[in-house]
Amino acid sequence: MAATADPPPVPAPRVRAGGGPGAAADAAHLADVAHRAGTAALAGADTAAFPALVDRLDRAVLRSIAAVLHDTAGRRLGAAWTGPEVADAIGAAPRHRWIPGRWLADLAAAGLAERSGDRYAPPPRPRRAELTALRAELDTARAGLGYPPELTRYLRSTLSALPRLLRDETSSQELLFPDADPRTAEVLYRDNPVNRYLNAAAAAVVRGLTPADPAGLRVLELGAGIGATTAELLPALAGRTADYLFTDLSPFFLDQARERFADHPYLRCERLDFAADLPPGHGGLDLIVAANTAHNAPHAGRLLTGLRRLLAPGGTLLLVETCREHPQSLTSMPFLVSANPPRTDARAGTDRTYLSRAEWREAMAGAGLRPEVDLPPAGHPLTALSQRLLTARRPPENRSRR
Ligand SMILES: C[S@@+](CC[C@H](N)C(=O)[O-])C[C@H]1O[C@@H](n2cnc3c(N)ncnc32)[C@H](O)[C@@H]1O
Repeated sequence: MAATADPPPVPAPRVRAGGGPGAAADAAHLADVAHRAGTAALAGADTAAFPALVDRLDRAVLRSIAAVLHDTAGRRLGAAWTGPEVADAIGAAPRHRWIPGRWLADLAAAGLAERSGDRYAPPPRPRRAELTALRAELDTARAGLGYPPELTRYLRSTLSALPRLLRDETSSQELLFPDADPRTAEVLYRDNPVNRYLNAAAAAVVRGLTPADPAGLRVLELGAGIGATTAELLPALAGRTADYLFTDLSPFFLDQARERFADHPYLRCERLDFAADLPPGHGGLDLIVAANTAHNAPHAGRLLTGLRRLLAPGGTLLLVETCREHPQSLTSMPFLVSANPPRTDARAGTDRTYLSRAEWREAMAGAGLRPEVDLPPAGHPLTALSQRLLTARRPPENRSRR
């Protein structure tokens, strides 16, 4: 990490609920304030090398996946492999049979396997010294990107568990929460430079909100999980929030949140599967938060349309989303995708987990929301990690649109 001068003070956001000619200027001002807050939270982290380090991490993960496939299935396969052959050789559960094909395609896209139709000549089986170097490379790239050592442990544990994951003998959740400990998840979603940046930028957006009802702000959080984003937003909401509904699919996270946020009497925890249903009500919410979770909706546009109806005119939708699948997530995300209902939006019929930045903005506009903050800015080294803060506002003129 390089030391830098103190960042300039972050001005207060100037936020109007309305549309009109001032709206674009207000959105630009809000994005600027949020970016400054995010930059301050980086606390001098040297991000210039991030793009190269992301590439190194991605390649190290892909080469490690190839090594696992050689170890577990290589002897039963010929010189050229297909996804289904690898799946059969490992004994993959039916719902995960598509995953080895995805890995082979990604290896080929990175120039690490030669593709001919649906067959792949994988890279040569790595020797012992290469495997040791590969393990070190994962850790070097992880450290350079400012993630705590738990990330290396997590990547190594998911890599060595790939055959068991494919056979459904263990789950990504078990590996992410060993002994129900949220520390690894905290590392992935909070305790690293890009999430510090995004969460601080999100908090700056929230600081500028004005409640539609004088009783205070009404907030809904979807897929709130370990509460990594919640914990960052609550200080920005302190003293002016009437209700914060913390929801998740899993009761495990709700129990944890009740304990963790017990000193916030306005925070309620309820189970909600947003892929199936949204809470009843029309137009009363000032803020809806969905951090690292909205991609779990089978149809992003339909989710956003439902959320727009829940927002008060002038209310804000705040998403943190990964907008491109990196190989570093190939040891976990595909297994979660297998467990989800099939996608029916632009991802239908593909093996994509995420929507692109442009697809989210389009889905926002299509749902009658006005995109506002979209960070980090183009060209910033943090863009290499493909995680973004995307906010949109329900314009007041949509009051009649239900
Ligand atoms: C990657 S975690 C993100 C947690 C948290 N928002 C954060 O950023 O720290 C995704 C969360 O979404 C939840 N989730 C996944 N699908 C969901 C659904 N259909 N409805 C509600 N929650 C869901 C998971 O249980 C998990 O807690």
